[in-house]
Amino acid sequence: MAKLISVCTQKGGVGKTTLTMLLATYYHTTVGKPVTVIDADFPQHSFDATRRSELASIQNDEEIQSLYVTLYPEMNRELYKVYKGSLEELAMFLTDLKGRGEDELVFIDMPGTMNVKGFDRVASQLDYVILPMEADKMSFTAGLQTLDLFDRFREAKGADYQLFMLWNKYKKSENPSLMQGIENIVNERGNVQILEHRVTDSVTWKRERSTLFPSDKVKNLVGELNQLLNITQPVG
Ligand SMILES: Nc1ncnc2c1ncn2[C@@H]1O[C@H](COP(=O)(O)OP(=O)(O)OP(=O)(O)O)[C@@H](O)[C@H]1O
Ligand SMILES: [Mg+2]
Repeated sequence: MAKLISVCTQKGGVGKTTLTMLLATYYHTTVGKPVTVIDADFPQHSFDATRRSELASIQNDEEIQSLYVTLYPEMNRELYKVYKGSLEELAMFLTDLKGRGEDELVFIDMPGTMNVKGFDRVASQLDYVILPMEADKMSFTAGLQTLDLFDRFREAKGADYQLFMLWNKYKKSENPSLMQGIENIVNERGNVQILEHRVTDSVTWKRERSTLFPSDKVKNLVGELNQLLNITQPVG
């Protein structure tokens, strides 16, 4: 069975698409895993839009073209596929997705609201949910609501996922007692693992996020996820 992974929270702008893209691209290009991305964030579909604009830039920008023709034939790889659709559409071919090779990682970019048809059906099929968290009240409240909802799916629909929390946009100047308070409350739930690795707040992520080229800055995060999600590096 493929692993279905979603970076998911009920708040916009916390970094769902950015983190999904950084991870999907790194796993595909650098780790060498088969990856598929489902962009279910209707209607903006920003993952798919980025892929399209990057493909256009291969045609129009010589520097990007030469990077691309160097990297991909060297890896002997093709681009990973990005499918876009609504959650309702996606819910219909989930079994198909799950039945893909053991090795495959399927990343699903979900909308920032759970009030969308098909959300429960898709969410309850996930294997791993990574909740991005910023050290602020809004992000925290939305994060807790998201975790409550996933707990309800678990009870009502027999869902069986592992939940992780990932600090995103982390700043050294962050209030440590606020962060500790949030971690304590999340830890008290008993079924959420807080990832050790924190993704720092940096303007470079905007530049580094790509559906084509990997960013080495996610190397440590990927190392931690490999262990927790039992992802093995292909040989050779
Ligand atoms: N670690 C980070 N440091 C700095 N900026 C970041 C970081 N992660 C994400 N961002 C920025 O935050 C903004 C929102 O990110 P992103 O689009 O990934 O969020 P999202 O949760 O997918 O939002 P939406 O709900 O609109 O889909 C983007 O401008 C992105 O570049
Ligand atoms: Mg998004």
